[in-house]
Amino acid sequence: MNFKEEIKRRRTFAIISHPDAGKTTLTEKLLLFGGAIQTAGAVKSNKIKHSTTSDFMEIEKQRGISVATSVMGFEYNGLKVNILDTPGHQDFAEDTFRTLTAVDSVIVVIDVAKGVETQTEKLVEVCRMRDTPVIVFINKLDRDGKDAFTLLDEIELKLKLKVRPLSWPIGMGPDFKGVYNLYKQELLLFRANTTGDEDEDNIIRITDLDDETLETHVGERLANELREEVGMADEVYDKFDEERYREGQLSPVFFGSAINNFGVKELLDCFTEIAPHPQPTHTEEREIDPFENKFSGFVFKIHANIDPNHRNRIAFVRVSSGLFERNKNYLHIRSGKKLKFSSPTSFMASKKEVVDEAFPGDIVGLHDSGKFKIGDTLSEGEVLNFKGIPSFSPEMFKYVENADPMKSKQLAKGLDQLMDEGVAQLFTQTMNNRKIIGTVGALQFEVIQYRLKHEYGASCRYTPVRLHKACWLSAENDADLTEFMKKKQRSIALDKDGKEVFLAESAWMLEMAQNDFPKIQFHFTSEF
Ligand code: G4P
Repeated sequence: MNFKEEIKRRRTFAIISHPDAGKTTLTEKLLLFGGAIQTAGAVKSNKIKHSTTSDFMEIEKQRGISVATSVMGFEYNGLKVNILDTPGHQDFAEDTFRTLTAVDSVIVVIDVAKGVETQTEKLVEVCRMRDTPVIVFINKLDRDGKDAFTLLDEIELKLKLKVRPLSWPIGMGPDFKGVYNLYKQELLLFRANTTGDEDEDNIIRITDLDDETLETHVGERLANELREEVGMADEVYDKFDEERYREGQLSPVFFGSAINNFGVKELLDCFTEIAPHPQPTHTEEREIDPFENKFSGFVFKIHANIDPNHRNRIAFVRVSSGLFERNKNYLHIRSGKKLKFSSPTSFMASKKEVVDEAFPGDIVGLHDSGKFKIGDTLSEGEVLNFKGIPSFSPEMFKYVENADPMKSKQLAKGLDQLMDEGVAQLFTQTMNNRKIIGTVGALQFEVIQYRLKHEYGASCRYTPVRLHKACWLSAENDADLTEFMKKKQRSIALDKDGKEVFLAESAWMLEMAQNDFPKIQFHFTSEF
């Protein structure tokens, strides 16, 4: 197979959902179809089941598991499918945002009873910002839930996705009979089945819904209901259009039950038919086409402490263009240094193995002793700076102080590396050099404290600080910015890259500053 064909057969995507909607279960069923695992239960959930802050020990355990399931690759119908896992816990939402920069499409899982939940809203917003193509899977049809039209309305309203159902449910909960696959014009009869085996006997080809065999399979009432609803759906929703889907403008919707392996193969078959192959990558300098001959790639995730005895980390690099080769020198653009990698790894389900090469769309894991930072770019020599992994304004803040004067170097190094990994953000107040950690969730404070101690031998203490938001600043005229910073000296800090940040104590203070200084732009993400 030549280079071009290798790229065209790759499908790199992520499954996103609110916790408990069924992401892990669906992932597992997809892997079973791909032959990447043999038994149900082989994929360990990458979610932190309980959300209390005292669970950070549990997180540590789970981190070990989740590195194995960070990327799961498998072959299906001649395609190489890469699933990128995303943490379910909302305190790690930023990890998920970053992972979304490394995929070409996503599948959103929604619980039929709960409908669209908050976490899903936030994640889909990121997809919309990037025009990432989205397929929706409505799960748990074996349970009672909302009716199809209500759910589709909710998706359009809350997720702001234009939808097109490609399957339609027949009954629900105890009354659930199956789905009609509008894409393939097949009736798929429901049988509870948790083994993961596929049962061809359940598939009945009915190209015309007026066909009376429909009654024999689902009964008269449900057959009529199906005819009526499909008729309505055809009127209400636009025709499915692959091109619009790939532009992120139309989302096909499937119904099923992941745990029963029902509707999953139909989802996978459609996904592999329509999902986009690796797409161009945006850098500050130019757009990189995946089919270019020269290698380039970017770090979207850093996973540390795989082996607690060695402070090693794995940097996950998405190959953007060209062929990545083992033991070849590549330019690490931020440091200007040439690096080569003797044991890059790829991930096939829970198996990690050293690879000699990787193609655009693939993810390689590179051993890192602290050189990498999220967003770093590698190339064959051209200076390219990957664009698109902004830091978001944190929601929680605490002063961080050294609790062991003998270990100040260790603390500085530990904080530095944890911030490079994207665990949280560090701001240094310009007036007094005090350091403030900002996070999106409460859990990270505990994680940082724990990891500083166990990986760096450093101790830190937190003291409260009353802050509402950290905003990045810009102005057309440098003098305006300088004046603002002089006037607001007490509220100015530098982020890890040395960019100026305004620390607003309250929403009111922020509004005041915006009113008083109209020439200053306040940004809530670090890229603007
Ligand atoms: P997540 O990764 O999105 O957080 O969800 P996960 O797959 O872990 O599923 C959450 C719960 O929903 C699990 O039950 C799982 O068995 C169940 N589930 C998944 N798909 C379906 C479905 O189609 N129908 C029904 N009825 N349940 C489904 P749990 O009891 O929380 O966990 P477990 O003990 O089964 O692992």
